Amino acid sequence: MESRRERPRGWQGRAPGRVNLIGEHVDYLGGVVLPAAIDRHTRVSGREAEAWSIDSEIGGGLKYLRAIGVELGVQPQVMRVESDIPPGSGLSSSAALLVAIAVGLRPELDGKEAALACQRAEQAATGVHVGVMDQFASALGRRGHALLLDCSTLEYQAVPFPDELAIAVIDSGEHRSLVDTPYNERRREAEAGMPKRRRHVDSEIARVHAFVDALKERRFERLGVLLKESHKSLRDDFEVSTQVVDTLVERAWSIEGCLGARIMGAGFGGSILALVQRGREVAFAAAMKREVIFCATADGAFVHRHRAPQD
Ligand code: GLA
Repeated sequence: MESRRERPRGWQGRAPGRVNLIGEHVDYLGGVVLPAAIDRHTRVSGREAEAWSIDSEIGGGLKYLRAIGVELGVQPQVMRVESDIPPGSGLSSSAALLVAIAVGLRPELDGKEAALACQRAEQAATGVHVGVMDQFASALGRRGHALLLDCSTLEYQAVPFPDELAIAVIDSGEHRSLVDTPYNERRREAEAGMPKRRRHVDSEIARVHAFVDALKERRFERLGVLLKESHKSLRDDFEVSTQVVDTLVERAWSIEGCLGARIMGAGFGGSILALVQRGREVAFAAAMKREVIFCATADGAFVHRHRAPQD
């Protein structure tokens, strides 16, 4: 009887983008961060094939595929990708792509292990020594919460995020791939203890703790003050802001109902994050004179996998 090769089974994976409330450029130094997974997702479907291939508009996608394939120990795959996370805008579209592939191909993985595998894949694909925050949030974020993540131990706690606040993200229009930025240079300077960079790192870590306290005590004005301080520190001490971003952040600060705003993510362009009082969203967006993405918090890709039935 003629032996026929079995047709490879298809798989699907889905993972969210993320925002970072506070704790910027501290993850790769073992600091604490406070990201949240958001209600924008990347969906990937695929099956085993002779060679890696990708059908998507995400630039450089093939490099990511190969890198995550090595990490997950899988054969070449052909994949199709759909996403409502705008690439290059600071919502971690690449982390969502990697985590979606990881959950699709290896759903049995522990979320932390998956996040670490995706971080290594991102580093290998780009040569940028990113921290673990984005992949972790995409894998293990919790709906209704932000994640207080200690990047030195990977211990984390879900911190309730109040319904009274809206998370707004505004794209500066300055899109950049991290490879073309001084991200690695900033990391080296901070690791080497350069005083200005260190001052940002130490003060930012203190702000993360203060932010979590303020969230728990529902002192919303205080959240805004901490966001502003974070921005100034990223602008003046870590030097990752740009003129365009500073202008947007200052505009947001001046709008009634906006508690505070800051540059978000790696910087060098990208997006800003603002916290806006619920009910003021429309007026805020009009005053920003830019497209504003309002994000709700969401579950990470690996959240339902290992949950006990009573959870
Ligand atoms: C990028 C990296 C993260 C983190 C931020 C800055 O998003 O992927 O690991 O370093 O920049 O906080």
